[in-house]
Amino acid sequence: MDRPHLSPTFDELLDRARALVSDDRRAVLGIAGSPGAGKTTLAERLVRALNGDGTPWAAHVPMDGFHLADVELNRLGLRDRKGAPETFDAAGYAALLLRLRDDSAGDIVYAPGFERVLEQPLAGAIPVLPTARLIVTEGNYLLLWPRVRAQLDEVWFCELDEAQRVRRLVARHEEFGKDHDTAVAWVLGTDQHNADLVAATRDRADLTVKTDGTTPA
Ligand SMILES: Nc1ncnc2c1ncn2[C@@H]1O[C@H](COP(=O)(O)OP(=O)(O)OP(=O)(O)O)[C@@H](O)[C@H]1O
Ligand SMILES: [Mg+2]
Repeated sequence: MDRPHLSPTFDELLDRARALVSDDRRAVLGIAGSPGAGKTTLAERLVRALNGDGTPWAAHVPMDGFHLADVELNRLGLRDRKGAPETFDAAGYAALLLRLRDDSAGDIVYAPGFERVLEQPLAGAIPVLPTARLIVTEGNYLLLWPRVRAQLDEVWFCELDEAQRVRRLVARHEEFGKDHDTAVAWVLGTDQHNADLVAATRDRADLTVKTDGTTPA
């Protein structure tokens, strides 16, 4: 049967990720997609499979660590827009990616994480070891910010049917403490506007990956 938009298998994705590193030079793979499209899940799965039980060869560095803290969002009057492009430190993210690519000092580079219960960034949460040759970074706006895109060797775009994406996102907000009505209002309000911004960048990606749970192992 003809299968349009055939998504790569997971093994094909692994091969493609490995091929980004040549002559041991550190490479950066970006994974973009709308809120709840499955970016973090895919990045974690890739890094786990690439590292196996050995010395870390791949590292997961999420864009989420560059959320501005609530104290700064309050100062800027942006607290109710949390998650929108202007509520991130995009320049700081691009600078960290540049430092990771440079890879000349041989130091551990610490990336910030995002604490989902507090909903705050957390400095120094993610150590990127000198052994890491592939950095897998993921987030909503990788294809929206040219200075971030410029630091990425390749960008994949996670694609998911809208109804499924909204269902997963509501479930995730509930899991982290929002009641159902608040979760739905957030997903269909603030998050939807952000999702539309991300969807408009889809054609800039090098590859689209379906994240509907059917990607074969
Ligand atoms: N392939 C999949 N099959 C089934 N469920 C999935 C799959 N990928 C992700 N999920 C689920 O969907 C939800 C959202 O996934 P995930 O957190 O990876 O998305 P995200 O794109 O990183 O979201 P955000 O933009 O909010 O960070 C999670 O609860 C996750 O467990
Ligand atoms: Mg995520």
